[in-house]
Amino acid sequence: MPVDLVSEKRIAAEAAVKLVKDGDVVGLGTGSTAEFAVKAIAALVKQGLAVKGIPTSDSTAAMAEELGIPLIDINSVDQIDVTIDGADEFTEQLYLIKGGGGALLKEKIVASKTITQIIIADSSKKVEFLGKFKLPVEVIPFASRYVMSEIAKLNGAGAIRQMNGTPFITDEGNLIIDVDFKKIEDPVALSNALNGIVGVVEHGLFIGLAHQVIVGIGTEVKVFG
Ligand code: 5RP
Repeated sequence: MPVDLVSEKRIAAEAAVKLVKDGDVVGLGTGSTAEFAVKAIAALVKQGLAVKGIPTSDSTAAMAEELGIPLIDINSVDQIDVTIDGADEFTEQLYLIKGGGGALLKEKIVASKTITQIIIADSSKKVEFLGKFKLPVEVIPFASRYVMSEIAKLNGAGAIRQMNGTPFITDEGNLIIDVDFKKIEDPVALSNALNGIVGVVEHGLFIGLAHQVIVGIGTEVKVFG
């Protein structure tokens, strides 16, 4: 039977949403998997659950508002109780690649302020080594050529992300360079190296930020972490 990735995303999201408690400040992720969680949270809000949402992108903010989830400014709180977000790849060590949807900057800020960061995914996202998915690196446009040459020194082959024939622009007005690093053997070292390049705003390696990954595998959910 072919694997139904959409249904795996949905059941992972539904399992994650059970961890949201009344009164929580909730980080709302971005992407097709996180969308299931946002919709499930909205359904609970309609039934009376009192939560305050902090969206990780303009698109998630628009969806949450439309669905009636009350939103608050991230700078009005010191911490976020729980965040539910997707990922492009994850390992058993809970290292992630994120940013396929271009929202990695706010996603990483929200994750950094979150007490319990839950990643939800379909079974295709689990990998032994990160790197099959090109690593998104968000850069200030002024620095894009310089960053590209520094990335080449790290053996990465980068290309500026395009959308409809023009460069993709993030919510914060930056560019994304999608970098093929092949197999990423040492994500911590690569993360540190990328953090040291001037002009890099953020990158999609999430190290030590996820507390749990909930994966849909067929009709079951499996929890890592
Ligand atoms: C957006 C992200 C997404 O969580 C990631 O791209 C996974 O998306 P999807 O759930 O649609 O596969 O990091 O920046």
